[in-house]
Amino acid sequence: MKLHSRHLLGLDGMPKEDIQLILDTAISFKEVLERPIKKVPPLQGKTIANMFFESSTRTRLSFELAERRLSADVVSFTTVGSSVTKGETLKDTARNIEAMKIDMVVIRHSAPGAAHFLSRVVDANVLNAGDGSHEHPTQALLDMFTLRDRHGTLEGLKVCIVGDVTHSRVARSNIFGLKTMGAHVSVCGPATLIPREIEKLGVDVYHNLEDVIPNVDVLNVLRIQLERQERGLFPSLREYHRFFGVTQEKMARATRPITIMHPGPINRDVEISADLADSEHSVILQQVTNGVAVRMAVLYLLGTTN
Ligand code: CP
Repeated sequence: MKLHSRHLLGLDGMPKEDIQLILDTAISFKEVLERPIKKVPPLQGKTIANMFFESSTRTRLSFELAERRLSADVVSFTTVGSSVTKGETLKDTARNIEAMKIDMVVIRHSAPGAAHFLSRVVDANVLNAGDGSHEHPTQALLDMFTLRDRHGTLEGLKVCIVGDVTHSRVARSNIFGLKTMGAHVSVCGPATLIPREIEKLGVDVYHNLEDVIPNVDVLNVLRIQLERQERGLFPSLREYHRFFGVTQEKMARATRPITIMHPGPINRDVEISADLADSEHSVILQQVTNGVAVRMAVLYLLGTTN
């Protein structure tokens, strides 16, 4: 079986069978990662370039680990120390990388659409590792893998995405992926951080976390981007925490065990209380572990069949 596209640019419009194939393939790679020797040969002879024009800890390390576990040759660069700082365009950077016979490119960029653009100018398979506030498909895939693992199915699961939805590529990819897989998706946050007309994506909108908690299976808590506080989108971190911070106290309204997710990095005691982030409700570190298996699955499917 193979994916319908030779790139992974986003989950908007990705067929259900493709998401299913990636999640099912990741089960085998999760098993590989539990072996004493965690390396398999499928991408032997393939060269992958990781192009990170924006900061990253989890995604960059996770992709690199996944590539090496599949026996690919890996080259990585970040903006600092590359010729991008001398004014080179994305197109020229990509074409130069391709001239070195690169087979696959993983890109993170602050510009929405950067991965789409790259896929039109290079022959390599392109994987979007986050493009501005547009999409972060592998994050949503690893979130769905983690939820399916914990709850058995995504069909009918009630998931609420909490926080700065407007600026979140994680939220957008999760909404597209979860809706395709039959989950009920809602969003909750201050009106200034929820996009207008988001209901058109088929999600319910809440502005009060205490109305949400009794009715959901999962809270996916987004990072509050502290830099946005400057722009007056919410009055203060303390006030944000009071109304939208996910805490043990608010969780007392739950009517069933709720799974707490967060893509990281966490602002402890801002969007989530430190004790809840470390509690048995939290799957935050399982998300990170599963991220390697899910990225192995995507790289394997694109690199061997597309
Ligand atoms: N979740 C996520 O994308 O984290 P990084 O920014 O550290 O890659």
